[in-house]
Amino acid sequence: MKVDVILGLQWGDEGKGKIVDVLTPRYDAITRFQGGPNAGHTLEIEDFKHVLHSIPSGIFHENKINIIGNGVVLDPVIFKSEIESIGKHGIDLHKNLFISKKAHLILPTHRLLDAASEAAKGETKIGSTLKGIGPTYKDKIGRDGLRVGDLIDHFEEKYHARVRAHKELLDKFFHFDYEQTLAQWEQEWMESIEILKSFHLVDSEHQINGLLREDQSVLAEGAQGTMLDIDFGSYPYVTSSNTICAGACTGLGIAPQKIGRVYGIFKAYCTRVGMGPFPTELFDETGQKLRDAGNEYGSTTGRPRRCGWLDLVALKYAIMINGVTELFMMKADVLDDFETINVCVGYKIDGETIETFPFELTGKVKPVYVELPGWKCDLTKLTHENEFPEEFNQYLSFIEDETGLPVTIASVGPNRAQTIIRKPEDE
Ligand code: GDP
Ligand code: IMO
Ligand code: MG
Repeated sequence: MKVDVILGLQWGDEGKGKIVDVLTPRYDAITRFQGGPNAGHTLEIEDFKHVLHSIPSGIFHENKINIIGNGVVLDPVIFKSEIESIGKHGIDLHKNLFISKKAHLILPTHRLLDAASEAAKGETKIGSTLKGIGPTYKDKIGRDGLRVGDLIDHFEEKYHARVRAHKELLDKFFHFDYEQTLAQWEQEWMESIEILKSFHLVDSEHQINGLLREDQSVLAEGAQGTMLDIDFGSYPYVTSSNTICAGACTGLGIAPQKIGRVYGIFKAYCTRVGMGPFPTELFDETGQKLRDAGNEYGSTTGRPRRCGWLDLVALKYAIMINGVTELFMMKADVLDDFETINVCVGYKIDGETIETFPFELTGKVKPVYVELPGWKCDLTKLTHENEFPEEFNQYLSFIEDETGLPVTIASVGPNRAQTIIRKPEDE
């Protein structure tokens, strides 16, 4: 058996949570391999809506294994509040949830360092979710991090040594005032690690490879999006982990040849939250119309998302980096009420047009658009691809021709049920 991977191909919030929840019945185990509570994955199941931050989006299905892999960074406080709110739905998380001992811990001082670093950057700030992601991965790569497995033995000593080092940074480098906040956050944090310790803390690389050997199927759920990848995203306006397919290997402990299908998901348009370049961004009423129709406000921070047209230059780059095998188009219904729809097929830089993704995106990059007709009808009630209006089929075909990949799912609303599986032409 192999691990199938589901990845966001844009700047995040493509609808990963929804689609993982939809695909979960096909799998035995759902895993997270990178990122942390900067993620906000929304599930809408019949009459309730839930936003997950650290816990895999398979959790609302019975008898599925959910694993938080070694590549994830975990904040025990957010973890505890997620456990409590999921528990209200009668889900027994102690049975189904496993956490890698090698996952790194987000300490209260990592959150302070995130805030201090962003404040020091001023105008050039990243627009971080301020969940402590960057400082925690910095400690991991700097070989100073604390891991979930460290909670088991002599933790206090290790914790205080690290906090002392962080305080020195906050005092000497950032001149950041934190004592009162830290006292409160530390208390919550210490209470929360007791909850975390009551879960299955495992060597998840052995567990996942064991599942594969026993012919169990595994789905890996990406967080963030390809354009926020630390190596290939719009650096430095990125997150601090590898959000791409290769991140599933290092973040779970699986060999590259164990990767099976790679599902690439994208919105029918584009959004971005936080700072950084975004070539197809719309600053006019069309951008506002997308924001309103798509309810584009951050699931983690509530910030309004920046909106723009679909960017095929960036999408094709993401497909290449990830080895995507099929595409899922999300939020198609958001475009229901547009007379015409633009798709970016090239970038113009200093008068020259390019179709391949450049070294970096700057303000000089201007989108080259193709205009397609809108479908001007309500997709949200449709249940089968036979009912698709001609213009929507044309939009899908255009993307399939440009990318060379089939769009096998079209999502037409936030609910589980609003998901249309498309059949390949030869079936
Ligand atoms: P994720 O981070 O990739 O899981 O995505 P988010 O949950 O942050 O953002 C996606 C938002 O779009 C959520 O509010 C979803 O409920 C919603 N959503 C997902 N799929 C669709 C869809 O096909 N149509 C509409 N209108 N909303 C969708
Ligand atoms: P999901 O999984 C959208 C963005 C932040 C900021 C940058 C760095 O829901 O798609 P960080 O907190 O990692 O230091 O922030 O990355 N960002 C996201 N944008 N969706 C996310 O997650 C994001 N996680 C981080 O807005 O620009
Ligand atoms: Mg999100």
